[in-house]
Amino acid sequence: MEKGYWEKIAPSYETEIFDVLKNDKSGKIVKAILSFASPKKSVIDIGCAVGKWMPVLAPVFGKVHAIDISNNNLKIAAKKYPQYTNITYERVDMSATTLLSAPSIKVKKYDSAICINAILTSSLKKRNLFFKHMASFIKKGGDLVLVVPSLESKLFSHIIANKYNIDEAKKDKAPTGKRAISQIRFIKDGVTDIDDVPTKHFLKEELELLLNLAGFTVEKIEKINYKWSTEFHKPPSWLKTPQPWDWMVKATKK
Ligand SMILES: C[S@@+](CC[C@H](N)C(=O)[O-])C[C@H]1O[C@@H](n2cnc3c(N)ncnc32)[C@H](O)[C@@H]1O
Repeated sequence: MEKGYWEKIAPSYETEIFDVLKNDKSGKIVKAILSFASPKKSVIDIGCAVGKWMPVLAPVFGKVHAIDISNNNLKIAAKKYPQYTNITYERVDMSATTLLSAPSIKVKKYDSAICINAILTSSLKKRNLFFKHMASFIKKGGDLVLVVPSLESKLFSHIIANKYNIDEAKKDKAPTGKRAISQIRFIKDGVTDIDDVPTKHFLKEELELLLNLAGFTVEKIEKINYKWSTEFHKPPSWLKTPQPWDWMVKATKK
């Protein structure tokens, strides 16, 4: 999932891309954000897309800086919320080697940050840079709420689908040739397709280690559960819990 993909999908973002805020029926993410929100604090939304989290952030923080790699997404977000005068938008590539395109970012650190399903790239090099830049934006003692796709959940869904032939999974053709080789290489790195796009999924232990090494203290890692209908067209009525999930991390900058 690279810049071109996000620019192209921007006009149909609302129908194409999974809405974490809407689907987190537990409200755990909002609750985690509200636990450190203050009109005296600034927050940066990393990978803000079309600005779904603006109505959560703008009323409770003094300043909101919303950044994304996609100009098209940022334009849509800026048009959507003219009522919030405390938001600034900026195009930033979190996987760039240097953040030259983001002069304001270079000199500024934020009291807190959210990053909701934006670290998705299949490239290890780009993910490393993403984590490094994310850490550099947050003040010492500042808070982070991070949400990422769960590899455990993805494998669990595949296992259930195959065992019980959900959505006729048994009819799926196994990949062959180059595609099979690339899928094997990818899965060893936790990269598996979402809508045919290779997407990084994370293990809980992997996240804990990555964040520690990036300079964070992990306070908690929790599941954000979703309905089975987010995973399957026709989930069987007996399929209730465990539900599919993303990982939510609450961490502070060391
Ligand atoms: C799945 S969307 C999530 C959007 C939003 N956080 C939400 O929860 O509604 C992922 C967003 O991350 C952005 N993104 C991906 N890679 C990025 C990068 N290297 N730098 C900045 N933004 C990036 C994409 O443009 C896209 O808007």
